[in-house]
Amino acid sequence: MAVAAAPALSLSAAAGGGSLLFRQLFDADTGTFTYLLADVSSRKGVIIDTVFEQHGRDLALIRELGIELVASIDTHAHADHVTGSWLMHEATGCAIGLAAATGAENVTQPLAHGDSIVFGSRALQVRATPGHTNGCLSFVLDDQSMAFSGDALLVRGCGRCDFQQGNAHTLWASINEQLLTLPESCLLYPGHDYTGRGVTSVAEEKAFNPRLGGYASERDFVGHMQNLKLPHPHKIAEALPGNMRSGKPRELATAAAWAPLARSYAGLPELTPTWVAAHQGEVTVLDVRSAEEFNGPDGRVAGSLLIPLPELESRSSELPANCPLVVVCHSGSRSALATQQLLKAGRPQVANLRGGLRRWTAEGYPLDGVSQD
Ligand SMILES: [Fe+2]
Repeated sequence: MAVAAAPALSLSAAAGGGSLLFRQLFDADTGTFTYLLADVSSRKGVIIDTVFEQHGRDLALIRELGIELVASIDTHAHADHVTGSWLMHEATGCAIGLAAATGAENVTQPLAHGDSIVFGSRALQVRATPGHTNGCLSFVLDDQSMAFSGDALLVRGCGRCDFQQGNAHTLWASINEQLLTLPESCLLYPGHDYTGRGVTSVAEEKAFNPRLGGYASERDFVGHMQNLKLPHPHKIAEALPGNMRSGKPRELATAAAWAPLARSYAGLPELTPTWVAAHQGEVTVLDVRSAEEFNGPDGRVAGSLLIPLPELESRSSELPANCPLVVVCHSGSRSALATQQLLKAGRPQVANLRGGLRRWTAEGYPLDGVSQD
């Protein structure tokens, strides 16, 4: 039987009909924003300021959208989280971009003021904006409609200047010469926010930034910055060395996963019909449809165990204790919920069958009890 190809996602639709796809992602643990941009016509994209622990999420989105990642770039060597750049490079082959001034290992695209990061027909212009660290960069979209300012300029704030060669005088110059000279309508996307503010504009920061906007002078700004008295970020001891390796782990994980799980952007561990069909003897296929469906003309996977979704919690003792579970239903929807429930209950080895029995059949794998009518 011919294998049904997955329908190609319209990137234009995902981009809201425009020519540029833009996503802002958030890591709640560190208040870090990650940005994904892609040129719709070529599907080439870049990702800015990834977080190591969010790699699975970010990669799932890139894959679901069908984006060919050109580069994973960072605005600076962060002190509060480790970049996911090396993991992204390993997964997609993309370049790793960071300021050459940082001197980090594993950087394949060392960046400096005036460089362009090209993705398809679009590009980000690199501007040096030191002061928070000596290697801080900001990335300005080719049409100057948006800029990614890292920690140089935050929403109604700015990055601290009290370590990593920070300097308040330098930061004042960077912000005023490189960022606030952009068009007033240029949207500014920060590296962090801890109170839910995701975007600002040049006009707003000129008017309302309490450190440097309004009538503030360089002396006012420096006086403010030198008296912040902030505690050091709690992850600094692991974050800085990790970022000086571009996020390459010191020791690579050697424990093999029980199956080649792919995590969806929805957060689910998934397996393909091909893998499940080839490993049916090593897993329990758990069918969570109703008994009528299980015994009806649609058929079932040979040897599968039936526990309908509404009964899953009360009948969990019927699940084999030490056998991996692959959860199935008609389309993969009810089994997705069952997979989440089982993971939440502490079951370590469980995955959803991607696309459910519909995709299983479409890919040519057999079912027992199928009516030929
Ligand atoms: Fe920072």
